[in-house]
Amino acid sequence: MPKHTVTAALPYANGPVHIGHVAGVYLPADIYVRYLRNAGKDVLFICGSDEHGVPITIRARKEGITPQEVVDRYHEIIGRSFRDLGISFDIYSRTSSETHKQTASEFFKDLYNKGVFTEEVTEQYFDADAGQFLADRYITGTCPVCANENAYGDQCEKCGSTLSPMELKNPRSALSGNVPVLKPTKNWFLPLDKLQTSFLNDYIHGHTDWKTNVTGQCKSWLNDGLKPRAMTRDLDWGVPVPLPDTDGKVLYVWFEAPIGYISATRELRPGDWEDWWKGDTRLIHFIGKDNIVFHCIIFPAMLHLRGNGFVVPEQVPANEFLNLEGDKISTSRNWAVWLNEYLEELPGRQDELRYVLGSILPETKDSEFTWKDYQTRVNSELVAILGNFVNRVMVLTHKFFGGKVPTPQTDGPLQGAKDATRAEIQSHVDDMRKALDEYRFRDGLSSLMNIARAGNKFLADAEPWKTIKQDEAQAADALHFAIEICANLVFATEPFLPFTHDKLCRQLNLIPMLLMVRHFWRDGLVAKPLPAGHPLGEPELLFARVEDETIAMQTEKLLKMKTPDTGAEAALPAAENKPLIQYDDFAKLALKVATVKTAEKVEKADKLLKLTLVADDGEHTVLSGIAQHFAPEEVTGRQVVWLSNLAPRKMRGIDSEGMILMAEDTDGKLVFVSPSQAVAPGSGVS
Ligand code: MF3
Ligand code: ZN
Repeated sequence: MPKHTVTAALPYANGPVHIGHVAGVYLPADIYVRYLRNAGKDVLFICGSDEHGVPITIRARKEGITPQEVVDRYHEIIGRSFRDLGISFDIYSRTSSETHKQTASEFFKDLYNKGVFTEEVTEQYFDADAGQFLADRYITGTCPVCANENAYGDQCEKCGSTLSPMELKNPRSALSGNVPVLKPTKNWFLPLDKLQTSFLNDYIHGHTDWKTNVTGQCKSWLNDGLKPRAMTRDLDWGVPVPLPDTDGKVLYVWFEAPIGYISATRELRPGDWEDWWKGDTRLIHFIGKDNIVFHCIIFPAMLHLRGNGFVVPEQVPANEFLNLEGDKISTSRNWAVWLNEYLEELPGRQDELRYVLGSILPETKDSEFTWKDYQTRVNSELVAILGNFVNRVMVLTHKFFGGKVPTPQTDGPLQGAKDATRAEIQSHVDDMRKALDEYRFRDGLSSLMNIARAGNKFLADAEPWKTIKQDEAQAADALHFAIEICANLVFATEPFLPFTHDKLCRQLNLIPMLLMVRHFWRDGLVAKPLPAGHPLGEPELLFARVEDETIAMQTEKLLKMKTPDTGAEAALPAAENKPLIQYDDFAKLALKVATVKTAEKVEKADKLLKLTLVADDGEHTVLSGIAQHFAPEEVTGRQVVWLSNLAPRKMRGIDSEGMILMAEDTDGKLVFVSPSQAVAPGSGVS
């Protein structure tokens, strides 16, 4: 029987996790693992904190504490909130552990000894005052694309361009503000270009079973052609490079963090960890879409090179992103529902969150959480369908039959309804198992609810509260069968709603035996009836309604805590700070009205839309950094004001001709500047 090593992306220990993380990674992973366990598979569920990397050092500097203090704090907060949400890791480890340092060093040395890496001396920016090389994020300067003066060495947050520090104009060190100097340094590179032909092309193209959002991204990386990537960095926070004369160098965080999965396995199972990474093992990585290249390309290449029996990932069921109340979740703008705060402010409502997020998992495309929708789903689905069914069955059985499972009838008047309902439940169980096998957790969850729906329908038709008056045996039969449906819910809820599962077990006074669990989840056989006379527990509400007040409070809190996007704000010099100009300066601008004919997203640039504008002299292509504010279809057909004589620029291989004018408020909200009524395209603006 194959082993299943299931991992969930190691969260960065530089802040708590939010509901986007939960919906992207941890909830689907947990549902899947619970399903596997119930079906009797050999499974380990591995996670831990990712405690290295530049953002952690930046946070530490900002707060005047050490990076270790930062990660200690968040490792604790994150680990606790996962536990409280019922995420059932077998281990939640961390990459600052000794075992990890050792495991990652061994891995690196093994590849080094095999001659895998190429050594390259490159010129890197160095801060002479601070006496250290500068990570890309520690260099700021003027964006070559949009002239934002506060672009980072790896990215311009204004226009979304991916940059390298060398492209920045007027580079400055974020440590001291000084102008950094270029200094040669040696690093070790993974030749991904060579690996593409020797391994990766076949590996990716062979995985026709991966989700299309995953293979899509992989193929676009392959089409662009992979380039060697440095696996060591000049930085003082991380796993030291295990080679002589490498002071001040650490392993690239994306090299060592995935090895953290191995380290954690080793920590958990010192005796047989290798069995979980070699031989008959299914390695499955749950991640968010921003992690795809690392788990589908770089880590498989590393494992492949390591050889010696190590398996490569079999499945990488990556999710897209969850948005919040119409906007992208953003840590820096504090636009998020933090898991630890949710658990504190809505105590005892873990399954409500699991249910709502489970219903809107961004499995094939981005999806959206709103508090209003949370309330609706809890009140009109969890409470009204699942909670209501179980509660009616419990209350009626206590009222009419002293809380004991009543005696069923054979071939009574309800026989037909019972058979039909049993068959229906069987088909929901089949659908549910198939959905889980195929990583369609939303569908799996809706099959679970369909079982409860079938229960409500049966009960409404059988009306034991009426029949009890004329025909007690029939009412007994109805409730006997309704309790059988509850027993199915005991099994079916476990992966999705484990807290509800526990409550159901208490109410049915049932300790599901392993064999029963296996019959249900492995063999897909619906639950057997409970024996007549079996005493039930006390009725207890499974879910409480969410009141308007709660929703109002949460929505208000979100808006109150929201901070403006500092990146974008700094990038747009406030209008009042600009010097006086002459009319001639203004007259240099060739402003025109243009109509947007088409708008589309630009691959690998989250912020850019590619617009085709129609003016008096034909069509023009303009790239605009508005993709996070407007969907392409919201832009198409609009009239905009177009600065037509701005020198053209190449971005992402596309020539952008000019720019369109937008107004931006202090919250970073963008609106179009447009003529107040339609005018001929190409009309001048002055
Ligand atoms: N810390 C990364 C993130 O949150 C995920 C790391 S996954 C690992 O995006 F495989 F590298 F560990
Ligand atoms: Zn820019």
